Amino acid sequence: MSIIKYLFLIVFFVSSDFAKGQTAQHEAYNEPCRPQIHFSPEKGWMNDPNGMVYYKGVYQLFYQYYPDSTIWGPMHWGHATSKDLVHWQRQPIALYPDSLGYIFSGSTVADIHNTSDFGKNGKVPLVAIFTHHNPKEERAGKNDFQYQSIAYSLDDGKTWRKYEGNPVLMNPGIRDFRDPKVMWYEAGKKWIMTLATLDHITFYSSPDLKSWMKESTFGKEIGAHGGVWECPDIFPLNYNGKGIWVLIVNLNPGGPNGGSATQYFLGDFDGTEFKPFDKETRWLDYGPDEYAGVTWSNTGDRKIFLGWMSNWQYANLVPTGKWRGAATIPRDLRIEKIGNQYVVASLPVPELNVLNEQTTALSNIDVKNYDLTAKTGKFSGPARLSLSSYKIKNFSITLSNNLDEKVVIGYDKTTNQYYINRAHSGKVDFQKEFAKKHVAPRLSEKVAMNLTLIIDNASVELFADDGLTVMTEIYFPNAIFSNISIQSVDNFKIKALRFNKMKSIWR
Ligand code: FRU
Repeated sequence: MSIIKYLFLIVFFVSSDFAKGQTAQHEAYNEPCRPQIHFSPEKGWMNDPNGMVYYKGVYQLFYQYYPDSTIWGPMHWGHATSKDLVHWQRQPIALYPDSLGYIFSGSTVADIHNTSDFGKNGKVPLVAIFTHHNPKEERAGKNDFQYQSIAYSLDDGKTWRKYEGNPVLMNPGIRDFRDPKVMWYEAGKKWIMTLATLDHITFYSSPDLKSWMKESTFGKEIGAHGGVWECPDIFPLNYNGKGIWVLIVNLNPGGPNGGSATQYFLGDFDGTEFKPFDKETRWLDYGPDEYAGVTWSNTGDRKIFLGWMSNWQYANLVPTGKWRGAATIPRDLRIEKIGNQYVVASLPVPELNVLNEQTTALSNIDVKNYDLTAKTGKFSGPARLSLSSYKIKNFSITLSNNLDEKVVIGYDKTTNQYYINRAHSGKVDFQKEFAKKHVAPRLSEKVAMNLTLIIDNASVELFADDGLTVMTEIYFPNAIFSNISIQSVDNFKIKALRFNKMKSIWR
């Protein structure tokens, strides 16, 4: 065969393989209950988002990943990138388990001043700080099987090299000693690591990300303690020119609706100690299915939060397909004041609006049993509903299919609670805690009300009162929910309503 023909054949095979790969990318993500506007891995298991950093116009997302099964196992850091927080490019696995253990949760920073000395030829190193979890030592009954290690990238996150000096922070004998979230504390010109240490937080500091010194502890007697503290985060948020420090602490179990959930504290941080304003326990999301949520680093004053959309109560049992686990919609965090109390509110990032397709805008609706589908047409995929009312009253919004399966989202005036009921949402019997109605307090004191629902094939996220009360809920209907209706026994009047069908991010 002539060399030209031979080369031609190679090119042909390579490109048809490539073409197959591309088609596969598009064919995947079509399965029933596959999230269409949320990140999920093509196959395998996913839990916490990890190492989120924004650098050179790219949002880096790593995540707890086990490629070989849809059951939690030896943890890797899966990897995806996005330029708009909406469309995700899947990337090769960033960190594999090694002789020191599995790669548990952690964070990534852009080491702009090259304090770590990993940078070469002016290249800014991205440095990942994560927990090594040593399963052999755990099986041997030791207590110090979790310790902190680092890895760095000199090509803006594409490839990673683990530091030869790992681990950089040894375990003092605390069984749960993990999930380092690192930030640059400019006022003290040092790195701060916020670490979950069993039932409290320990702050460490470092000049170079390699040597760490204990600064203080927080939280033994404050907050919710129904389970282990995990995946913390600390950052200031601006309120009327004043910096208010938010300390996020994920908790499992012990959430307000059972299982895993994200609590937070507000206060001051001086580079050594966190001093809370009060002893209040607050929740970033009251629903059962936002967990391990933390924020992107290196985003300036903007703070963007992302969680894992599941709950350890049933995460290993949910009836998906060749993948298990997804991320929430990224959310912008901000401080609000209710009376003399500060709270953190969150809303979907505005970038998400690029997916809005067909819009139905309506106003002045007197709700009794209002068939919204008659106006919008059936939907078969993601959608966004926003509505506002002059006066809050009892109401419910029902998502349903023709199999009599439904999810009901609403407000109950007597308890002043929002709720989501998935008791009859389809496949529910894989775990006894799943088929339930969940509630969340209404925090707003306003008479007027607004809400946004982000609806995907297997989830709904409720942002009530501009995100003062948030709930995330997953479900698994046997046919996609394509009907939406609104009920009220109370003369609930909708001032304005907007319904958008949304495009899938995978097509
Ligand atoms: C939270 C968590 C973390 C841990 C990781 C292991 O969901 O338990 O504390 O690092 O998951 O996958």
